[in-house]
Amino acid sequence: MIKTSEFVNRRRTLLDAMQANSIAIIPAAQLVTRSNDTEYPFRQDSYFQYLTGFPEPDALLVLSNKPSLADTPDNTFSALFCLPKNKLAEIWQGRRIGPERAEEQFSLDVAHSLDDIEVGLESYLDGHDNLYFARGLHPSVEELLDTILQQLRNAPKQTKNAPNTQIDIRELLNEMRLIKSEQEIDIMRQAAQISCVAHKRAMTYSKAGINEYHLEAEIHHSFAMQGAKHPAYGTIVGGGENACILHYTENNCQLQDGDLVLIDAGAELAGYAADITRTFPVNGTFSAPQKQLYQLVLDAQLASFYLFKPGNTLKMATDCAIEVITQGLIDLGLLTGSLEENIENQTYRDYFMHGLGHWLGLDVHDVGDYKIDGQDRPLMAGMVLTVEPGIYVAPDADVDHQWRGLGIRIEDNILITESGYEVLTSDAPKSIEDIEQLMQSSGAIIQ
Ligand code: GLY
Ligand code: MN
Ligand code: MN
Repeated sequence: MIKTSEFVNRRRTLLDAMQANSIAIIPAAQLVTRSNDTEYPFRQDSYFQYLTGFPEPDALLVLSNKPSLADTPDNTFSALFCLPKNKLAEIWQGRRIGPERAEEQFSLDVAHSLDDIEVGLESYLDGHDNLYFARGLHPSVEELLDTILQQLRNAPKQTKNAPNTQIDIRELLNEMRLIKSEQEIDIMRQAAQISCVAHKRAMTYSKAGINEYHLEAEIHHSFAMQGAKHPAYGTIVGGGENACILHYTENNCQLQDGDLVLIDAGAELAGYAADITRTFPVNGTFSAPQKQLYQLVLDAQLASFYLFKPGNTLKMATDCAIEVITQGLIDLGLLTGSLEENIENQTYRDYFMHGLGHWLGLDVHDVGDYKIDGQDRPLMAGMVLTVEPGIYVAPDADVDHQWRGLGIRIEDNILITESGYEVLTSDAPKSIEDIEQLMQSSGAIIQ
């Protein structure tokens, strides 16, 4: 878990980076209806989570560096609006922390009941020059905010002052979230490790005849038994040609003897995601063409790894993976012509149609710009990202039938260090020998 002191430091860093006499409004997530009277499992808003660790819906964080408000030693002010204690509501819907406990537990200057939000927000907003907010994410808060801003502007004889300038708070927060702290890295290591164990469990439980959702259940069982209650995103279990659907989440087909199965699954721990893909034979033994294509994806990943170090860019690693994959596809007869021509014409995109990787953190596709002033941004120590080359041959591709319907992705999570990179997910087997050895020795493969 992230310590309270780190949340306090993050708020301070944000307030220091904001222009003088500014206020920031950061809303929590709200429950989302799944069907009548039932909701989807609650997931906190990542920005709100990053700044508070407060676990409930409907709350709202206010930060200010206006001198009269921020009458604190470090010139920062933080207030939380949250659901008030309510016996009846807590019997029906669950416990609430309440403003009194929230203030102390989350080291806030003050916490108020959500019942006071209109009056409270109006008084907080009054007199600030700038408002930092993320538009487009929280429609109901946005509506309330706009109403209050209008009330301030309409106040008689200009007795009140609405902030004149609105600034997208994401510019600052995304940069902060991109570089992970020691505590964040520690949690992400654990999320990665939990996910590796789950992938190993799926490998040992795989056999022809079971359903894709049975392996999904094994993965989620493993997450939970290791202390991660939720997956970080919709688990993908794609047997056979289902692996060629990049965001396949139906997970509702029978696994067939002789097919590969692709599993893209990662645990969420204390809000942080792991994002691992492994592809393995349903029956524990790769066929010859499966081996060839699998080894090519693995070679591309291993070759690209060496480019991950401070100062290099994700684009450099991507270009390397593209070159290995394209040359391999030519060698195997899936592409014709020269390497240069194929790269120039991007023919590899018929088979490798997504990026090599993405930032990873509180969101599985985490925030942070990939370019700065139009240039690929240099990697820095503390960044965490995925490295996930893949080859997907459509079932109707105009190639030798032995390749058709094969979908392979190998996805690991890496931390950029001062000297290079550290693979956080190395405990999930990925060499052909290691996968076959684990699956064949597990005894779970009873055809
Ligand atoms: N699991 C989503 C992705 O790999 O990007
Ligand atoms: Mn990914
Ligand atoms: Mn993934």
